Amino acid sequence: MRILAAGWHGQIARAFMQTAPGRTDITAFAIGRPGLDICDPRSIERALGDIQPDVLINLAGYTDVDGAESEPELAYALNSTGARLLAEAAARRQVPIIHISTSYVFDGAKSSAYIETDCTQPSTVYGKSRLAGELAVQTANPKHVILRSEWIFSPFSRCFVSNILQRAQLGVPLKVVSDQYGNPTYAPHLVDAILAVALQLTARPEEEKPWGIYHAAGTGAATWYDIAREVLTASEPLAKLSVSLEPIPSADYPTRSARSPNSRLDCTKLERTFGVKLPAWQTGVRECVERLLAPAPSPIDASIR
Ligand SMILES: NC(=O)c1ccc[n+]([C@@H]2O[C@H](COP(=O)([O-])OP(=O)(O)OC[C@H]3O[C@@H](n4cnc5c(N)ncnc54)[C@H](OP(=O)(O)O)[C@@H]3O)[C@@H](O)[C@H]2O)c1
Repeated sequence: MRILAAGWHGQIARAFMQTAPGRTDITAFAIGRPGLDICDPRSIERALGDIQPDVLINLAGYTDVDGAESEPELAYALNSTGARLLAEAAARRQVPIIHISTSYVFDGAKSSAYIETDCTQPSTVYGKSRLAGELAVQTANPKHVILRSEWIFSPFSRCFVSNILQRAQLGVPLKVVSDQYGNPTYAPHLVDAILAVALQLTARPEEEKPWGIYHAAGTGAATWYDIAREVLTASEPLAKLSVSLEPIPSADYPTRSARSPNSRLDCTKLERTFGVKLPAWQTGVRECVERLLAPAPSPIDASIR
């Protein structure tokens, strides 16, 4: 199966390019700007024509939640218009699209984990642009799977886990929000789920392909404080970090756009439909910390490779 990912510098795209090429059942391609600009229909056409994928995955987008408040046009251009252009181009070639969305489409007022059919009511520009993207993809290409995920971390770019590690290494006392709940998701685990879904979409007979929206996030809920504590625990055998960690309420950590007290995603539908369940978030944190703290190869090792 040939898979083309739109986007190549992002953390999920980089996890994709670390995982997919090692598999014998997949030929993977990732193209980002300037080769594939999701706002430029001609570059999308060219990429689809060159690669001839069986499945297109959208891993590009505007991801700065706070920045979206002051750059709404850009957020909508990437998260809605760009998503629509990709979905339309794929539809013209009868190619399914897997689009990654977010728990920010919900308002966070629910007391339990969100299911796919819960009412969407984004309260941030970012969430609104993402919801517009979901609707655009649904309208443009009937062959779509939208995976809502959240709180993604990886060793491939700056993220919450790397920030905590860096501050701990500098000995900066940590005060971390402990009243927001979500499902931390390790990018390589999400990529495994995306690939499993893609393989099943191409393998199943047309009338049995379960198009639609699914939640795909790490197993188990946590607060940002819980993740920070797990990062420090995971780093203990690997590095000598001596730093204090204190839970604080969201009120003590103001952000430009409001954060949900609850963004937990119920991923039962994904498991029931595709047999896919992401590992526990703690497993991802441990692997991420190990990779971030792994000694860099010496110049001699590097030259041998
Ligand atoms: N991170 C999360 O917690 C999270 C949660 C739920 C959903 N998602 C969604 O998952 C997707 C990937 O997330 P991520 O964490 O990997 O994001 P990321 O690290 O911020 O990467 C986003 C990528 O989009 C690319 N991009 C921006 N504009 C583009 C354009 N016009 N054409 C082509 N590529 C463009 C950027 O490329 P450049 O390097 O060229 O700027 C960047 O590499 C995004 O759609 C995001 O909204 C993320």
